[in-house]
Amino acid sequence: MRRINIAIDGFSSCGKSTLAKQLAHHLGYTYIDSGAMYRAIALYVIENGLVIEGKLDKPNLLRVLDKIDISFKHDDATQRSETMLDGRNVEHKIRGMEVSRHVTLVSPVPEVRAKLVQLQKALGKDGGVVMDGRDIGTVVFPHAEVKLYMTARPEIRAKRRYLELVGRGVEVDYASVLENIERRDDDDTKREADPLLKAPDALEIDNSDLTATEQFDLALGHVVKTIGVVAEA
Ligand code: DC
Repeated sequence: MRRINIAIDGFSSCGKSTLAKQLAHHLGYTYIDSGAMYRAIALYVIENGLVIEGKLDKPNLLRVLDKIDISFKHDDATQRSETMLDGRNVEHKIRGMEVSRHVTLVSPVPEVRAKLVQLQKALGKDGGVVMDGRDIGTVVFPHAEVKLYMTARPEIRAKRRYLELVGRGVEVDYASVLENIERRDDDDTKREADPLLKAPDALEIDNSDLTATEQFDLALGHVVKTIGVVAEA
């Protein structure tokens, strides 16, 4: 069976990773969370004093950027891929609000994007990858045979994210989650380097009123139409 790459783009917290993991599991593909890589760089700048009075110390980031090592380690026990920063497992740390608040300092930097896009392309060179992000169908895998573009209303996304954070024991209020989502939507769509765009050949899925199962069936139907019947992995 031919192994393709599947590109999933969309705003933050609109269920991209849930769908990407379901598809990867069903197809026996590897799921790659490109947002985790931007989050890892954000964690690096926070931990290394490269944020001064809320601003990024870009010259010093660019000096060390080549040496920052980001990779993924598959955990057989949890069946999850964990994000590694310079050999350290940072999967938990990169999901907190502090990193969420700082990630838009690093995601618009063209040199950061160039480094991460190169890494993402390399991870997908043999196919069999489901990758989610903002520029996967437009920049990372412009020739992907399946592209999905996901949307959902901001209040719905904020509610999902709020419940997810509370479920993980993070102390947070709904208003600040909504504010963070709206700010990131703005940054994602308005930045000059690789903004969030729907690729012309992407299938748009608005999941505001869809269950995860309905969304999965819709997406899998599209995959099957594109590559033919797939046996469950
Ligand atoms: O998907 P996420 O919310 O974990 O992504 C974290 C941040 O990284 C988000 O603010 C947008 C940015 N991002 C990006 O610019 N390009 C990608 N391919 C993935 C994420």
